[in-house]
Amino acid sequence: MSNVPIWKLNNGLEIPSVGFGVFKVKEGDEVYLAVLEALKAGYRLIDTAAIYGNEEGVGRAIKDSGIPREEIFLTTKLWNTDQGYNNAFTAFETSLKKLDTDYVDLYLVHWPGKDKYVESYKALEKLYKDKRVRAIGVCNFHIHHLEKLLAETEVVPVMNQIELHPLMNQKEIRDYCKEKGIQVEAWGPLMQGKEDLDAPVFVELGRKHEKSPAQIILRWHFQNDVLAIPKSVTPSRIRENIDIFDFELSEEDMGKINAHNQNKRLSADPDTMMNGFD
Ligand SMILES: NC(=O)c1ccc[n+]([C@@H]2O[C@H](COP(=O)([O-])OP(=O)(O)OC[C@H]3O[C@@H](n4cnc5c(N)ncnc54)[C@H](OP(=O)(O)O)[C@@H]3O)[C@@H](O)[C@H]2O)c1
Repeated sequence: MSNVPIWKLNNGLEIPSVGFGVFKVKEGDEVYLAVLEALKAGYRLIDTAAIYGNEEGVGRAIKDSGIPREEIFLTTKLWNTDQGYNNAFTAFETSLKKLDTDYVDLYLVHWPGKDKYVESYKALEKLYKDKRVRAIGVCNFHIHHLEKLLAETEVVPVMNQIELHPLMNQKEIRDYCKEKGIQVEAWGPLMQGKEDLDAPVFVELGRKHEKSPAQIILRWHFQNDVLAIPKSVTPSRIRENIDIFDFELSEEDMGKINAHNQNKRLSADPDTMMNGFD
């Protein structure tokens, strides 16, 4: 059984408050074994994407885990080159087939791009209304993208999945999303392995709470109402990253991590990320 607290999305759907990401995890044995390990450790949310090229392995691991499909929250994403109203349906069917399932829990627009995200999202709305997906949302949306989306579509996204970690804590978008009832999900929650997790603030708090720096950071996300989806292919880390529910950071501890913010983006900016867009 999983001891991960459950949160509720704006459409009433329940979602585990920590998930498992599989960006850059290779299709085949690597993703298959990592997802099996994650499910064994208690994760019940798996985050993949068409562009990750590993949906088949994810689907196979879910099947072979023996855990009923309805107990697993499965997310995948519409890739940039598949944007557009009609294209989105084709891409969705391809993802479903690869995942070997007849629905996904959450389907996300992967990046806003320039001008097709509204029509793409309208296709997701149709999938939602047709009950092919249990919830829909977006990734990498700035406030201005969300404003346009909210003005021009009907279904409020349940989720905005964005780059978020102690070096870029995204306070403004978090506040905006909270006001609109949109759950924020952190990608790169551990800074993608690009930055040292052994910065003094994490090490000191780790010593205080007898936890690792990664666990301190993941607990900080949780206490900020942010759903983190850490990735690892290392079994001990997979287990470690979900073992964060037996301690609490004080307000002072939280303040120290908040003070670590430098608005430092480690990956692409959604306003200039045009990979796959014309
Ligand atoms: N929507 C988007 O545009 C977008 C973009 C990027 C990512 N994502 C999603 O977000 C998920 C997480 O982001 P991410 O994979 O980019 O980065 P991340 O989870 O922040 O970092 C993953 C890196 O941290 C290492 N790591 C994991 N646990 C650790 C621990 N306990 N101690 C030390 N190092 C640890 C991993 O190494 P090992 O694997 O070697 O253990 C890997 O190098 C992705 O997998 C994907 O599902 C979404």
